[in-house]
Amino acid sequence: MPADYLLSVDLGTSHTVAVVVWPDGRTRPLLFDGSPVMPSAVFLDPAGTLHTGKDAERLALTAPERFEPNPKQRISDGTLLLGDREIPVTAAFAAILSRVARAAIESVGRLPDAVLTCPAAWSEQRRGALHDAAAQAGYRPVKILTEPVAAAHYYTSRLSHQVQAGQPLAVFDFGGGTLDIAVLERRPDGSFGVLADGGLPDLGGLDFDAALVAHIGETVKQREPEIWKRLENPNGASELRNRRELWEEVRGAKEMLSRSSVAPVTVPDMAQSLHLTRGELDQISRPLLSRAVGETQRVLALTGRRPEQLAGLFLVGGSSRMPMVSKMLHEGLGIAPTVLEQPELPVSEGAALALTATVPVTPPAAVTSPPANPTAPSLGLPPMTPASDETVLLRRNGGAPLPPPRRGTVHTARRVPPKWIAIGVAAVVLVAAVAIGAWWLLNPYKQRPFADGLT
Ligand SMILES: Nc1ncnc2c1ncn2[C@@H]1O[C@H](COP(=O)(O)OP(=O)(O)OP(=O)(O)O)[C@@H](O)[C@H]1O
Ligand SMILES: [Mg+2]
Repeated sequence: MPADYLLSVDLGTSHTVAVVVWPDGRTRPLLFDGSPVMPSAVFLDPAGTLHTGKDAERLALTAPERFEPNPKQRISDGTLLLGDREIPVTAAFAAILSRVARAAIESVGRLPDAVLTCPAAWSEQRRGALHDAAAQAGYRPVKILTEPVAAAHYYTSRLSHQVQAGQPLAVFDFGGGTLDIAVLERRPDGSFGVLADGGLPDLGGLDFDAALVAHIGETVKQREPEIWKRLENPNGASELRNRRELWEEVRGAKEMLSRSSVAPVTVPDMAQSLHLTRGELDQISRPLLSRAVGETQRVLALTGRRPEQLAGLFLVGGSSRMPMVSKMLHEGLGIAPTVLEQPELPVSEGAALALTATVPVTPPAAVTSPPANPTAPSLGLPPMTPASDETVLLRRNGGAPLPPPRRGTVHTARRVPPKWIAIGVAAVVLVAAVAIGAWWLLNPYKQRPFADGLT
């Protein structure tokens, strides 16, 4: 168990997720406006204050040119133009991390030590930008852990899937900005090392949004060419706002299509509302996802392993909610991926688990596709040694009592095997049968006809 609180932050292209590990070993996501997922958006007001999250999105409606929804995507630019001012991207990161720090202080009374995550492919320079941003936001020096390593720890510690030493595990992180793929190997000491990594920097949820906007645009152009011209090349705040609204509409429709077969799309200034169907989304997604599957095969081939040798294929990131993602990966690799109901959370929570001695508790309620490795869950975590960025080691709970299970959950270690449940039920039935039989034999009225009782 950690001696103190620990904060873990996954600052993503679309969303930021933060988790606090409590001294009793339990992990709890921080809530932002009631949600564990905060938009990584920033808005610079005329007084020079940077607003973040949903506030930034709301303020964007008043002055869209002062708004940046995805600062992480702009890391290679170094700066952002917000209205009439240019600010370093690190200042945007710092604003987001400050917001997280405030939430952490509200939750536990002070700002704990922190671990931040970043893509495996990030250079030292980019990691340096995260360190700087954290320092600007008032954090003590932070640890940085790569996103796939964090996800791998979630896979073994929280989901209790077994990955034997020497076995590879693939992490497919499909977020808002990029697709990041890594094949990791579990080392004998329980840590994970990246065997190969890759991905598609030009394929994330935003690229699906762009493809859908272009698709809707074909219809708008035909019916209302003037409206489409303004949406394509907006001029001034009002037209910028309309364009942003259209993208939001299309993103919302795309997300709805993971659950429904039709989703409405309201195009600003257009009287008639349009709609998108699951079929259209699937058709548009197929070529994009073929690239994703091809890239997964390529990264795996770099390791010299075959798909069937993988201990699992773990899908994280919001875009992996699209049903076509699991389907095409399953078809392409021949193994069933594991994807959670809230695929935005494993990276942040996994980083927290990696840096603490948290033992496996209960897996999250819903796993929407079967785990790739059907073997029984294991609690046999390796001993802990000092952690480094890429080789974070888990330690056994050291014989200390297990942290209390979360409300409404059952500790995996205390689960009763089905065999014992069956024996218990059989014993109860047998005792009941003997009791009824005895009562029947000893009952003096048993031979009396029912009619006798009436006289
Ligand atoms: N139900 C859904 N169907 C399709 N896409 C979804 C769904 N829910 C969320 N998404 C997409 O997931 C993306 C955001 O995912 P996530 O929050 O994991 O990204 P991120 O971590 O911010 O990005 P990155 O990891 O690339 O930096 C958005 O593009 C969003 O539209
Ligand atoms: Mg992410």
